Amino acid sequence: MRIHDVAGFQEYLHALRERIPDKKVSHCVFVTEYLASFAPDLGIAAEQIVAAGMLHDLCRALDNTEMIRRAEGHGIPVSDTARKKPNLLHGALAAVEAKRLFDLDDTICDAIAFHTTGRADWTPLGVALYVADFAEPSRRHPEAKIARDILRREGFQEALLYVVRSKREMLQKKPVVDPTSATFFLWVEETFGE
Ligand SMILES: [Fe+2]
Ligand SMILES: [Fe+2]
Repeated sequence: MRIHDVAGFQEYLHALRERIPDKKVSHCVFVTEYLASFAPDLGIAAEQIVAAGMLHDLCRALDNTEMIRRAEGHGIPVSDTARKKPNLLHGALAAVEAKRLFDLDDTICDAIAFHTTGRADWTPLGVALYVADFAEPSRRHPEAKIARDILRREGFQEALLYVVRSKREMLQKKPVVDPTSATFFLWVEETFGE
């Protein structure tokens, strides 16, 4: 699949360029390219791959005050955790704003909304986006390459387990973690672990 040929790609790119710095725009394109390399095999449609990959970080460049102000304006619940770390809201915010701009389907909006934390009982698009966001080829952390190698050699399920375990370890060092992440990790272990 050539992502540039998929309906919506140019409009999404334009929207990103108006809102986030070039480096983050590149990250979104890398996520989309990488998703396009494996997600069709999981039965995910090209339009969903491109919309979720491109738009997941649409609101990534807002400052803390603006993040909370807009979330409240859209009626998105702002938890105590999110108040301490407003960046946790960038997925939920992107889902609402991307839907307004492009009238996306609910599966796409849900994948975007939860891409930072994951959630229990998530969709194939959601988990695929989570893995691609972690492992896209411009990511510097060594675990990104390991995850891509696992995906190529052992398949998506093993890569998902590796990504979730790595993320869990990384988050253990952070002072503020969204509790939704813990329920996602548990669900992945129960559903895909042996
Ligand atoms: Fe993000
Ligand atoms: Fe991202």
